[in-house]
Amino acid sequence: MNATANITNRPEWNCIHTNDSETMFPTNFAWGAATSAYQIEGGWNVDDKGPSIWDTFCHKGGRLVFEGQSGDVTCNSYELWEEDLRCIRQLGLTHYRLSLSWSRLLPEGITRHVNQKGLRYYNKVINDLVASDVLPMVTLYHFDLPQALQDQGGWKSPEIAAIFDSYARFCFESFGDRVKLWITLNEPYVCAKLGHEDGIFAPGVKEPGMAAYLVGHNMLRGHARAWHSYNVLYRAKQGGSVSLAINSDWAEPLDPASPHDTAATERYLAFTLGWFAWPLFVTGDYPEVMRSSIEVRSKELGYQEGSRLPRFSKDEPSLLGTADFFALNYYTSRRVKPGECCPGVLGLKSDQDAEGVVDPSWPVCGVSWLAVVPDGLRKLLKYIKDTFNNPAVYITENGFSQVGPVDMDDFKRCGFYHDIIQELARALREDGVDVRGYFAWSLLDNFEWADGFSVRFGLFHVDFSRPERPRTAYRSGREYAGIISKYRSQTMVNI
Ligand code: BGC
Repeated sequence: MNATANITNRPEWNCIHTNDSETMFPTNFAWGAATSAYQIEGGWNVDDKGPSIWDTFCHKGGRLVFEGQSGDVTCNSYELWEEDLRCIRQLGLTHYRLSLSWSRLLPEGITRHVNQKGLRYYNKVINDLVASDVLPMVTLYHFDLPQALQDQGGWKSPEIAAIFDSYARFCFESFGDRVKLWITLNEPYVCAKLGHEDGIFAPGVKEPGMAAYLVGHNMLRGHARAWHSYNVLYRAKQGGSVSLAINSDWAEPLDPASPHDTAATERYLAFTLGWFAWPLFVTGDYPEVMRSSIEVRSKELGYQEGSRLPRFSKDEPSLLGTADFFALNYYTSRRVKPGECCPGVLGLKSDQDAEGVVDPSWPVCGVSWLAVVPDGLRKLLKYIKDTFNNPAVYITENGFSQVGPVDMDDFKRCGFYHDIIQELARALREDGVDVRGYFAWSLLDNFEWADGFSVRFGLFHVDFSRPERPRTAYRSGREYAGIISKYRSQTMVNI
C-alpha cells in the first residue's frame, strides 16, 4: 500500500518516526523552505514600490480572490523580516528560498528608476541570511509583474524578454556577490495557463489556446537571455548557478495496459514538464508531441494563421543548456486518460487531450487538487533523471495544505514530511538521482493566490487577525526542524 494511502486513519501519529535509521543525506544537502514576495511581504504601496499585476488583480474586487482578499499586508514581512529570520533559524534551515518583488526594486519595471529603500530591504534580508549561515536561493520572478509592464503588453509582448534580462542583470549585479543560487522564473506554466488561459490568476487574461503559448514562449526567451547574461558577465566572478523552476505533477496511465492512456500520459507530461524542460535540457525546442498535438487540433478547427505554438528564432540566444540544475516544484500526481474536452473548442486542454484523475486511494489535503502522493515524487525524479540526462535537482517547492479551523497539532502534515523525505532518500540512494536539496512550501502561512488566506501551507502559523502577525510553529514545523537536525548530524559518503 502507498505509504500515505491511509494517512487520514493514523490519529496515533505523534511525529516520531522509526525505520529510517538507514536514511542518510549528503553533508552539503540543502534543507530549505520557500516563500514568495507577494505572498508574504505586504507593504504593497510603501516606500516608492510600484504596483504589480497582483495588486491590480486583487484590487479589482468581485470574485477573483477568496472573500475579496489581497496581499496588501499578508504576513507583513516587509516590516517583520526579522521575525521570519527567527523562524528560519528555529527550523535550522541551511537554505532559504525567497523571491524579489520586481516592482519593489524597479517601480516601473525598468532600471531607469530604482527604489533605494527596496534595494536596502533585500540587501538586509540577504545579509542577515548569510550572517546566520543560511544560503539564499533567490527567485527573480514569482507571478508579480510590474503593472507598468503589463500596461505595455506584459508577457505577451516580445519586448518583455529584453526587459526581464535587464532586471535580471540588475539583480545579479546588486546581490550576486552573496547569492549563489538563482531562479529566473517561477512556474511559467502557472503564469501562462492560470494567468492567460483560465484568467484565474493575475493578469486575468482569458484567451484560450492562444495567449498561454505566447506567454510561455516569451518567458523562456527572457529566461534564456538572463542565463546567458549571467554566464557571460557574472559567472566567472560570482560562481553561482541559474535555473528556472518548473512545476509538474507525476503522471501515469489510468490503465497501464491501455495504449490510449499511455499516449495521453505522454501528452500530459509534455504539456506541463516537457513544455519548459525540453527546450532547456533536450533539444532547445518544445517536445515534438506538444507541437504535433497543437497542429492536429489547429487543422481540425480550421485555424489558418500559422502555428499557435511559436518557434524559437535562430538569431536569439539559444535555450538549450540554459539551466545549471533542475528546479522542480512537485505537489501532486495524476492517473491519466484521453481528454473528455469537446474537440471543437480552442484551448490548451483540448490541444493536450489528456485528463488527470485522482486515484481514490490517495488522500486529498485541504485543496481539492492536492492529492498527497509522496512516491510520485520519487517516480518523477527518476523520470527526470532518465529523460533530462541526469541533472542535479533541487526540489524548490513541495508542501501540504490545511483548510478550515486551524490545527496546530497537524499530525498529518508531520507524516507527510516524513514520507516525502523518505521518498527523496530512496531517489538518492536507490535510483541514483542527483538530488541536491529540498525546499518545503512554505515557511509561513501566506496569501495563497486566488484562495486568499483560506489555505494554509506554512510550517509556521500566522495569525492574520492581529496587526503583529504573530508566527507560531506548527507541530509540523517542529517536526521538520527535528528531521533537519537529525540528518545534518549524519554524513553520507559516496551515494
Ligand atoms: C506556487 C506557490 C503556491 C504553491 C501552492 C506553487 O504553484 O509557486 O506560490 O503558493 O504552489 O499552491
